[in-house]
Amino acid sequence: MTAADAVDIGGGVRMPLLGLGTWQARGRAAHDAVVTALHVGYRHVDTATAYRNEDRIGDAIADSGVPREDIFVTTKLPPDRAGRERATLEESLSSLRLDHVDLWLIHWPPRGGARPDVWERMLALHEEGLARAVGVSNYSVEQLDELHSATGRMPAVNQIEWAPALHDPRVLDAHVRRGVQLEGYSPLRSTSLRDSGLRRIAEAHGVSPAQVVIRWHLEHGIVVIPKSTHAERIAENADVFGFRLAPDEVAELDALHGARRD
Ligand SMILES: NC(=O)c1ccc[n+]([C@@H]2O[C@H](COP(=O)([O-])OP(=O)(O)OC[C@H]3O[C@@H](n4cnc5c(N)ncnc54)[C@H](OP(=O)(O)O)[C@@H]3O)[C@@H](O)[C@H]2O)c1
Repeated sequence: MTAADAVDIGGGVRMPLLGLGTWQARGRAAHDAVVTALHVGYRHVDTATAYRNEDRIGDAIADSGVPREDIFVTTKLPPDRAGRERATLEESLSSLRLDHVDLWLIHWPPRGGARPDVWERMLALHEEGLARAVGVSNYSVEQLDELHSATGRMPAVNQIEWAPALHDPRVLDAHVRRGVQLEGYSPLRSTSLRDSGLRRIAEAHGVSPAQVVIRWHLEHGIVVIPKSTHAERIAENADVFGFRLAPDEVAELDALHGARRD
């Protein structure tokens, strides 16, 4: 396995299992993080209109020398732009200096609702080729079903907060059964990296607790997008393809569900 290893999310689109998160990365730091990530092997970058860094990410992609078609770029529609989908996506593409994104997500359910009308308009822009795949973020399983029953189309991806401390096998299984790729955000912030069991597993493999958490997502087939603006951590977080967790180690981490975060 490598950082470019990918899952099929439908329509012939392959989504790399590991991506770089960029929330709170701004300015030069955002640019340099993306260039570093692409140089150490990442092929997937996660941004959003709300992160206000799409222009820096666009510059970084252009500066990296990595061919555009080798990079999977996700951005997201802010819920308060519901009704202005086309203009918002066009602004994202202009900032990113791209003619399409690989994945476009509804960032949060607008005013808490699933909003099939927003989903319909996103599907239309997908059909036009402006986004190779479309999906949602922070949606419940019930809201996924609401979109599907209204339009006959399931989101390709649901990006939700996920980590050992948040692990819910029923929710994961509900996504798998619907053919919706689960993408986990805040993998490191949502679990205590000081947990004693996590540290013991990390020591056994000669890796860091952060690497174990990222590897745990991969063992479950969950796309994971750790964020860092530090070059050494960006490289560390991608260096997770030289070891595997044993089934009992995965089970031990699964059981951190509900563990206190710090
Ligand atoms: N859809 C949504 O609503 C939503 C919400 C939140 C996040 N996201 C996406 O998911 C991405 C990841 O989530 P996140 O940024 O909330 O949190 P995260 O990736 O879990 O954690 C990021 C934090 O961990 C630190 N860190 C990175 N690598 C580390 C390592 N190897 N050891 C110790 N600490 C490390 C980072 O610090 P440094 O940067 O200083 O290294 C940063 O403070 C975001 O960047 C964003 O792209 C989406």
